[in-house]
Amino acid sequence: MTAQGEGKPVTVREIRGRKGGPPLVCLTAYSANMARLLDPQVDLLLVGDSLGMVLYGEDTTLGVTLEQMIAHGAAVARAARRACVVVDLPFGSYQESPAQAFRNAARILAETGCTAVKLEGGREMAETVAFLSARGVPVLGHVGLMPQKVNALGGFRTQGRAEAEAAAIRADALAVAEAGAFALVIEGTAEALAREITAEVGVPTIGIGASPACDGQILVTEDILGLSGDQVPGFAKRYADLGRAVEEAAAAFAEEVRARRFPGPDGRGG
Ligand code: KIV
Repeated sequence: MTAQGEGKPVTVREIRGRKGGPPLVCLTAYSANMARLLDPQVDLLLVGDSLGMVLYGEDTTLGVTLEQMIAHGAAVARAARRACVVVDLPFGSYQESPAQAFRNAARILAETGCTAVKLEGGREMAETVAFLSARGVPVLGHVGLMPQKVNALGGFRTQGRAEAEAAAIRADALAVAEAGAFALVIEGTAEALAREITAEVGVPTIGIGASPACDGQILVTEDILGLSGDQVPGFAKRYADLGRAVEEAAAAFAEEVRARRFPGPDGRGG
C-alpha cells in the first residue's frame, strides 16, 4: 500500500489546480532506483541540476550539461509511475533565446519521456516561458535564489531581505506566472516575501528554504536521507541517516571479506 495509491500519473493541470489546496509534495530524484522508491509518496519528482553538486561533487550547478540532464531524466521517467516528472534545463541551454530554449526543452521531453521542464529566471525569462508554454512545453518556474546565477549573486545567500531586492523577486514571480508557468519554485527567500508571492500569483508556489506559506515544498532527497555529508542547508530536515547505514554496511562487508566469511562455503551470500 502506498501513501498516494497507484492511480494515474499526476498531470501539470492537476498540479496547477492544487493552488491553495492540499500541499504539493515534491522531491528531487536523479536515478531510477530512487525514483521508484519516492514515486508513490510524492506529487512531483524533479530531476534537478543540483545533481552536479550532489552526485558529481561540483561546487556549483554551472557545469551540468544537457546530456547529463537527459540521461538522468530518462532514468527517472522510466521508473516513475505516478509522480509528475520535471527535468531542469541546465545553465546555457535556454538563456540565449526562446528558440534555443525550445530546441533543448523539446530534446528533454522527447528523449526522457518527462512531462515538463524547469528553468530559472524572472522577468528576463518571461518571453521564453510564454514561447515554450504556447508550443506544448509545460514550464515550472524558479525564482528567488537561482543557483545558476551564483556568480552574479556572489554566493548562495538568502534573497529578498532588502526592500528593492524583494520587489524585484515579486515582479519576477508575477511575470513568470503570467507568462504561463504551471507552478513556481521559490528558493531561499525571506519568509514574508514567499508568503506575499504565494498570495499574489495564480499558480502554486513550491518552496525550498522559503516559507511554510507556500502551496508545496521541495527538498533535495539526499539531504533528507542523510546522504549529503555535512553539506546540508539549514532549512532541510534529515528524516533518515542512510549515510551511517551505508558506512556500516560497507564496514560489515569489508570485515567479512577480510575474514573469508563472505562468500559462504556454497558460494552464496545468505
Ligand atoms: O536543482 C534542483 O534540485 C532544484 C531544487 C533544489 C528546487 O532546483
